[in-house]
Amino acid sequence: MTRLRTPEPQQAEILTALCLRSKAVWGYGEAFSVACRPALTVTEDDWKQSDIQVAVQDDNIVGMVQVMYHGEVAELDKLFVDPAALGGGIGRRLFDWSVDTALRKGAKVLTIDADPGAADFYRRLGAIDDGVTASTVIPGRFLPKLKLDLASVRSA
Ligand SMILES: CC(C)(COP(=O)(O)OP(=O)(O)OC[C@H]1O[C@@H](n2cnc3c(N)ncnc32)[C@H](O)[C@@H]1OP(=O)(O)O)[C@@H](O)C(=O)NCCC(=O)NCCS
Repeated sequence: MTRLRTPEPQQAEILTALCLRSKAVWGYGEAFSVACRPALTVTEDDWKQSDIQVAVQDDNIVGMVQVMYHGEVAELDKLFVDPAALGGGIGRRLFDWSVDTALRKGAKVLTIDADPGAADFYRRLGAIDDGVTASTVIPGRFLPKLKLDLASVRSA
């Protein structure tokens, strides 16, 4: 059984390791993984600045999501599922949690700067394309930008 819960700030390192492990499923090389590390590092300060949720199976954390807020815009900053747990609905549950949480916080739109490998996942869950965004990690790399209109979710 998979449960969702709010993790403790002391678990930041465990979450960073999960993000790095999960990102590696797309087959990026070592140099790319090293370059991504700062962007995928979870710190205790994240608990003050964002909402974080984890998926837990048998006391093991198998997924995490982090949502940040900029006025009425909620940003899906991280969504990572453990490689061993892919394809089991955890990504969808964490995404749905993000949508519910963003709605409760009064956000009007949820934005996602997606890994190219994950873009179809977000499209499957109702997000639509909104151009591209420059990678903060690799100069000259562009990522699919997607968004979900939260008003349409509420009225659905
Ligand atoms: C993208 C990711 C979060 C999806 O998580 P998941 O738990 O495997 O996804 P789910 O099992 O909840 O899938 C939900 C639906 O999306 C589909 N889906 C999942 N991953 C997909 C992908 N990469 N491309 C297209 N569709 C995908 C599933 O088939 C399922 O469809 P269904 O409604 O027909 O059953 C996961 O692959 C992951 O963590 N990837 C590595 C890290 C990453 O890139 N994270 C995103 C950063 S932007």
